[in-house]
Amino acid sequence: MIQMRHIIDLCDLTEKEFSDLYKLTTNIIDRPEGYTDACRGKVLGSLFYEPSTRTNLSFSTAMMRLGGSVVGFSDPGSSSTTKGETLKDTINMVSSYADMIVMRNPREGAAKAASMYSSVPVINAGDGGHLHPTQTLTDMVTILRMRGSADDMKIGLCGDLKYGRTVHSLLHFLERYHNVQIYLIAPDVLGLPDYMIQFLKEHNMPYCEVKSIDDALPELDVLYMTRIQRERFVTAQEYQNLEGNYQLTAEKLKRAKKDMLVLHPLPRVDEIAQDVDDDPRAVYFRQARFGMFGRMALLLTLSKLPFIRAGHQDIGSHGVKCSNHKCITKTESYLPLEGKVGERCPYCDAPLEMLL
Ligand code: NCD
Repeated sequence: MIQMRHIIDLCDLTEKEFSDLYKLTTNIIDRPEGYTDACRGKVLGSLFYEPSTRTNLSFSTAMMRLGGSVVGFSDPGSSSTTKGETLKDTINMVSSYADMIVMRNPREGAAKAASMYSSVPVINAGDGGHLHPTQTLTDMVTILRMRGSADDMKIGLCGDLKYGRTVHSLLHFLERYHNVQIYLIAPDVLGLPDYMIQFLKEHNMPYCEVKSIDDALPELDVLYMTRIQRERFVTAQEYQNLEGNYQLTAEKLKRAKKDMLVLHPLPRVDEIAQDVDDDPRAVYFRQARFGMFGRMALLLTLSKLPFIRAGHQDIGSHGVKCSNHKCITKTESYLPLEGKVGERCPYCDAPLEMLL
């Protein structure tokens, strides 16, 4: 039984909680008909402030397959945000209607902020370029179901490692496995952010930086491809300079191990050529389906937690500000923020700076 109420990062679950969640996921995969009424009468509040197809549909389908219902929006233009409502007020209100909240927001740290004002569990469905724990659940269910463990694996992460939140979340979680070697395959401008490199070092996770797929491919057990996150680029020119780089093709795949897994959180643009899709190693569409079952297990588990009124929170910053201009504290100025200069922001993990 999960004690933790909010899922901001998949690492919020203990090893035992994750293992129970994985067991429940496999039970649902093997016998979905046993769960059609498991969330009957429960309501999921689904707040998508940023476009999404898979995650949004996957959560909604997961809830419906459990017999529950979904309310919310997939376009913030149709919510009171356009009238200037704060995140705090929206969450306060939705958490008095719904039994759980799933939220995607372009601001980094938004899910953590929302959880502070919620009386029901908040699930982070992506907060800017920061984290995406249920994609990590999807990735881990795929690896565990298809290979049994992530221990002793060589895992290549390719594409946009700077803005790709799925990569950041996955790396956080892989820390739990033994002897995992990470290959970071990205151009310099899309390399892993400093705070994530720091994370790898602090946790003694062996990694190497590689400049092309070809260099790493023969070694890998898993190749995790990602899309270049056009919407997070500052200028269109920056994006155009990189589009089309780091592409996987059927020709390149010939040099990979016979049992390597090609994963991708999707949507795919052109980083995986269409001729890869029929290769048995290309498991990204199965991965998306595993994700729905993982989300069913998560919703079912969280739906059993009691309603607890959100506690008091301080208001505003105390001597520091976050150095990340995409941090949720930049737009929701009432959010409490304290700590020492150089310490990590409690919302988005970027370093704190002096408030002048
Ligand atoms: C990812 C996301 O939104 O971060 N997609 C997803 O959730 N399935 C990856 C992406 O958008 O490239």
